[in-house]
Amino acid sequence: MCAILNIKVKILNKEEVAPDIYLMKLKAPEIVQGALPGQFIHIKCSKDNYPLLRRPLSIHRIDKEKGEICILFQVVGEGTKLLANRTAGDNLDILGPIGNSFNIYPESKKIMIVGGGIGVAPLLALCEESTRQGKEVRVLIGALKKELVIGEENIRKSGAKVDVATDDGSYKYKGLVTDLLEGSIREGWLADQIFACGPKFMMRKIVEISLDAHIDCQVSLEERMACGIGACLGCVCKIKTKDKKEDKVKYKYKRVCVDGPVFKGSEVVWDD
Ligand SMILES: Cc1cc2nc3c(=O)[nH]c(=O)nc-3n(C[C@H](O)[C@H](O)[C@H](O)COP(=O)(O)OP(=O)(O)OC[C@H]3O[C@@H](n4cnc5c(N)ncnc54)[C@H](O)[C@@H]3O)c2cc1C
Ligand code: FES
Repeated sequence: MCAILNIKVKILNKEEVAPDIYLMKLKAPEIVQGALPGQFIHIKCSKDNYPLLRRPLSIHRIDKEKGEICILFQVVGEGTKLLANRTAGDNLDILGPIGNSFNIYPESKKIMIVGGGIGVAPLLALCEESTRQGKEVRVLIGALKKELVIGEENIRKSGAKVDVATDDGSYKYKGLVTDLLEGSIREGWLADQIFACGPKFMMRKIVEISLDAHIDCQVSLEERMACGIGACLGCVCKIKTKDKKEDKVKYKYKRVCVDGPVFKGSEVVWDD
């Protein structure tokens, strides 16, 4: 993992790709060098000091050749609203790249990636890296309705097979994205690894499915963040650890910002 930089990067492009969801391209050659799928950047959303705290957003796409990264974000409050008002040519003050990353095992041949809602944000970079490494990749996208399905085309272009579920049935499968995952396992497509990002209830179900099917699963967690660099302990989550000497399960609090955001699904304690 490389050092966390505090730099100013230029906004190259901003596009509203779905209602209240923005794709922003940033010129960030210094970040690109060390950036890995699953990491995030911590952004000062406005030009002044309000809001005081930065906002964490995943690195959606990494273009090493051009020295560019993309972020994909949904406007949910003050910070993201201010960010959505920034325009091409503006400079953004960011910290990054931060956090661990998705761990693609060299021996894995088949990769299943599941994204729910804006949870698809960190998954395009993962998908592109997995196909680049020659893995067979399937991606399942879940959204409330057709207009909120994001990233399908780019994921397909990367060489992955994509399937989509919408809650209201307005596009492709009507139902939950986890139904698609169960269906693909039933049909015999067994991944060596599952990666997921999205609402907690979705990730929790995916972990249950992966444990039943004995498939390694990694999830990208979200917690509200303050410093974003491991100092304030404002973003901790509860993680199971095994005490080898006593052969019993113990619990630890880990910082989502620097110990995560990616954790083994089997280690996450969901009911807190
Ligand atoms: C590691 C990480 C990566 C993320 N990547 C992305 C991404 O790529 N795209 C994206 O759209 N969002 C992402 N998020 C969530 C994003 O950081 C929040 O939506 C954003 O900080 C909200 O800021 P705001 O000022 O607009 O909203 P606020 O006014 O701060 O909050 C608005 C609402 O969103 C909820 N909220 C705020 N922050 C979080 C959070 N971290 N987790 C859960 N709920 C939250 C609040 O409880 C509140 O209900 C990520 C979060 C983390 C921790
Ligand atoms: S946000 Fe401060 S330790 Fe994670």
